[in-house]
Order: sequence, then structure tokens, then C-alpha cells
Amino acid sequence: MPTILAIESSCDDTSAAVLRNDRLLSNTIASQEVHRQYGGVVPELASRAHQQNIIPVVDGAIRNAGVMKNEIDAVAFTRGPGLLGSLLVGVSFAKSFAQAMGIPLIEVNHLQAHVLSHFIKENDDSEVPQFPFICLLVSGGHTQIILLRDYFDMEILGNTIDDAAGEAIDKAAKIMDLGYPGGPVIDRLAKDGDPLKFTFAQPNIPDFNYSFSGIKTSFLYFLRDQLASNPNFIAENQADLCASIQHAIVSFLLKKLTKAMHKTGIRQVAVAGGVSANSYLRDQLTALGQKHLWKVFLPKKQFCTDNAAMVGIAGYFKYLNNDFADISLPPYTR
Ligand code: KG4
Ligand code: ZN
Repeated sequence: MPTILAIESSCDDTSAAVLRNDRLLSNTIASQEVHRQYGGVVPELASRAHQQNIIPVVDGAIRNAGVMKNEIDAVAFTRGPGLLGSLLVGVSFAKSFAQAMGIPLIEVNHLQAHVLSHFIKENDDSEVPQFPFICLLVSGGHTQIILLRDYFDMEILGNTIDDAAGEAIDKAAKIMDLGYPGGPVIDRLAKDGDPLKFTFAQPNIPDFNYSFSGIKTSFLYFLRDQLASNPNFIAENQADLCASIQHAIVSFLLKKLTKAMHKTGIRQVAVAGGVSANSYLRDQLTALGQKHLWKVFLPKKQFCTDNAAMVGIAGYFKYLNNDFADISLPPYTR
């Protein structure tokens, strides 16, 4: 019955969680508001904020879990990929904590953690995917179609060749002056818009790969042309613009995912990563699942964006495999 403390600090969220086996006892997150005014994550400010947040966040997670420090059996931490200065804060903290308590360390890959978030247990007994299944990982930094044969047997079937889906959504929001991160804002505004009002060409990319830079550029040029004749075009069409760009991105995501489902013959599909919080993506995937008779797994909203609970569950499966990390391991950025 291991009790695991997990630490996540790869980008702009400082998070700590405590799990007993696969059951989540606490999950504390400090999101960094400082980046909003810059329209994106400023790495130097992110590492400073992690430095300020890490001790209160870990302290809060341990207290909320109702465990004593000396009950913790191992520390799992995100080793990468991510921003070096951000990772260093979590990695150094995890190492010091493990060293001080005389307990082992478990290194976790951030992307694997997102995918494994489907196995976090809370007080409900919701169903988890069975192997093999396909996972669409969509975040601010990554867009991948992954085939999982086991917890750590993951094959990347498709990948973006340029921007990630979340990055494209955030850039579209920035063009419309909707602030950062734009994903949740577009999601909200799009609810009142027509997804088919404006169309943006989908790139022709082979296999299960993605490309989002073309959609972003076509959105930018379309707006530039419209604004030349009507300076209020964005304000007057905000909801339709949000719904249409969201539709362009989501339908492209699901087109390649469907192709991968057909090619592999697998009938269970999951989504993970920050963009999997998107309500349009969730609704469209649910509908697609009903049409093709796939079992669809949508993560709880709190496990879509960056969090330490997902690092903890990945750490738990590694603990069972006796897969511990050496204290000398450095973080990796990619
Ligand atoms: O997984 P995540 O928290 O960080 C990375 O590992 O990248 O993902 C962040 C991304 C951002 O691009 C953000 O705009 C997007 O997830 N996002 C959303 C929504 N919530 C977060 N995109 C669309 N709709 C949402 N509701
Ligand atoms: Zn992430």
C-alpha cells in the first residue's frame, strides 16, 4: 500500500498530489497568473513562481491528504519534457525531500503522465480503459495519437509536424485579443456561435500526423482581409469566429484519430491533455464513439490540464515495477 507524493512543475502550474496506491488523496495546484499580461508563458517568471509556490503547495497536498510526512513511501516527479528552469524547481525539491526522508525517487515523463491520468481513482468507481486503447494527447505543447498496449508500452502513431493543437487555439485567441491561455475562452464563447459559419482549409498531411500552422495562418489572413473592409469584424463575429476555428481544429483532430481507430481496429479511445477539457472536442468525440461503437474515455476536467495527480498515478505504476530513479538524474526539456 505505497503512499506516494507527486510533484509537477514542467510549465506554469506548480502542483503536488498524494496517492495511496492508485487512489488520490489530494491534488493541490497553484496556477501562475503572472503570464497573462505577457500573452504566454515567460520561462524566467515561471521558475521564480515555482520557487515561491513549491513549499506551500507540497505542504497543502500533504495536509489535505491527512497523512504524516513519515508515511510517504516514495516521491514521484516530472523529469521532462518542459521548461528547464521550471523543471529544476520540482526536480530539486523532489530529490531533497526524498534524500531527507530516506525514501526512493520515481521519475515520470510528463506526456505519459497525461495519458495515464485515466487510471487515477477517486471515491467513485468509474471505469478505466482496458489495453490496448488509443489515446489522443492534445496539450499546449503536444499533439499525438498514441497506442497503449500497457501502462508504459506506448507507441506514437501520429504527431504534429509543427504547432500543437493547444498552441494553435491559443494563437487564434491572441489574434482576437482574448487573452492567455485562450483555449478556455474560445471554448466558452464558441457555445453561442455557428461552427460552420467560416471555413478554414485543412492541411493535407499523410498518415496519422498533424499540422496546425496552416490553419492558424489561414485564420490570420482571413481576419486581416475582413478587417480591411470592416474594422469591427472581430467584435461583431466573435462567437462565430471562435466556434469556426474550434471546429476546424477539432474536426482535423478527430479525422486523423478516426483513421487510426480504423487502421488498428481498436475500439477504445481516450483523450488527454489540456485541450481535452474542450467541450466541443468532448461532445464530438462522444458522438463519434456512438456512431462507430467505440468506448470513449474522457478525463475529469481537473485532470486535463497540468496536475500532479497524473504524475502520482504514473509513479504508482513505476513503484509496482520497482522502477526507481537515481538521485543524479537531470531534467530533460524534450
Ligand atoms: O496540458 P496543459 O495544461 O499544458 C501542457 O502540457 O501544454 O495544456 C494547456 C493547453 C493550453 O493551450 C490551453 O489553452 C488548452 O490546454 N486548454 C483548452 C481548454 N482548457 C485548456 N483548450 C481548449 N478548450 C479548453 N477548455
Ligand atoms: Zn501538460
